[in-house]
Amino acid sequence: MSFFWSSWITIFSLACWVFIFGVLVWTLKTKPVLEEDETTGHSYDGIREYDKPLPKWWLAVFFGTLAWGLGYFVLYPSIQPNSWKGITTVEVDGQQVPWTSKNELNSQLQANNKVFTENFEQNILAVAGATDAVPVLAKLSELQAEQRKNAEPDSDLQAKIDEQVKLLAPYVDKLAGDPEAQKVGNRLFLQNCALCHGSNAKGATGYPDLTDNDWLHGGNADEILLTIHNGRVGAMAAWQKQLGESGVRAAAEYVLSISSGHGAGVDNGELNQSLVAQGKAIFEANCVLCHGADAKGLTAFGAPNLTDDIWLFGGDRETVQTTIRHGRAGVMPEWQTKLGNERIMLLAAYVRSLSQNPVE
Ligand code: HEC
Ligand code: HEC
Repeated sequence: MSFFWSSWITIFSLACWVFIFGVLVWTLKTKPVLEEDETTGHSYDGIREYDKPLPKWWLAVFFGTLAWGLGYFVLYPSIQPNSWKGITTVEVDGQQVPWTSKNELNSQLQANNKVFTENFEQNILAVAGATDAVPVLAKLSELQAEQRKNAEPDSDLQAKIDEQVKLLAPYVDKLAGDPEAQKVGNRLFLQNCALCHGSNAKGATGYPDLTDNDWLHGGNADEILLTIHNGRVGAMAAWQKQLGESGVRAAAEYVLSISSGHGAGVDNGELNQSLVAQGKAIFEANCVLCHGADAKGLTAFGAPNLTDDIWLFGGDRETVQTTIRHGRAGVMPEWQTKLGNERIMLLAAYVRSLSQNPVE
């Protein structure tokens, strides 16, 4: 909160407390002059006012709430949080730190995570015979903590982290065959991934199907782990400037000619063969670097196979032209900061099992 609002609230709440306390003390002290009949002489519509003491229980409650308020001032960062942090503490990263709502949230998240991790180690890793993953995970967390301290990304450290992530692959393969791990993985998938990939993981336009055996970034456990851990960005350049509109159309015609299946309205018989020939030359000069000489794609670049009948963005003539004209940049977010390594292992195992045992 800004200095202004913190000050405003501090002054307002202290002033309220002092005012209420003052009014109470004042009314207790002030004795009105009484008439002979023990009333104050005030009369409202014939109702006469006595001066009886306030009931004890009422006073007790009133002073109680004032004491309660005072207690809150002492316990929590109530007076300009920068000058009074309160005496309440919560545990974050194994240390007692002053209470703030953010620290409390972190503390609870860490406590939950601890329970999750223990459960994961005892009920999932141990059952799947993968307890050897524990030291790998510990080393990985250590490297990640080091990375979080750096202001600038450190590529050497990132390479070490990636190496460590890949070491988890054999254990992910074990989890992929474990029913309990699959159950938890499925739940995590529905919570975090279904939004983009669909609850059946079959994807949508721009969001890859994870149940087939067609991979942009690779379908081995280590590749899937890295995809989820670091995230991925598809980098298909826009070609309109370099190739011109006729070049884009030729390249698209060639792409359609090599795919084994395309969208509605295109059949091989009606492809423009002279455009296809032009497109082939363009493709060989510009596209093989990423899509491969055989156009079957290269996972190193996240470039899709163009010879199959699976389309990320669509296989009708217009969509293929649009893809080449303007480029594409699908973004798969990173999950290490949000989910942590244990959940990433479970998700990788789940994704891996989907393509191994395709669900219909
Ligand atoms: C915001 C949308 C979004 C969310 C949420 C998301 N993904 Fe993705 N994911 C993508 C996109 C887009 C791609 C394709 C990236 C590209 O074009 O290279 C992708 C790619 C992938 C791939 C690589 C597929 C391949 O063919 O190589 C995997 C595996 C994957 N996601 C798993 C997950 C998992 C597991 C989660 C949940 C933790 C998740 N995704 C959540 C958008 C998302
Ligand atoms: C720098 C590497 C790179 C080059 C060069 C490149 N592409 Fe791509 N291409 C990609 C990537 C990566 C994707 C996936 C984009 C995404 O996931 O968002 C892609 C996607 C595509 C798609 C979409 C396929 C689908 O399933 O919807 C087509 C079509 C395509 N490229 C054609 C071409 C053509 C034609 C050329 C040459 C003119 C070319 N690409 C050059 C990397 C490249």
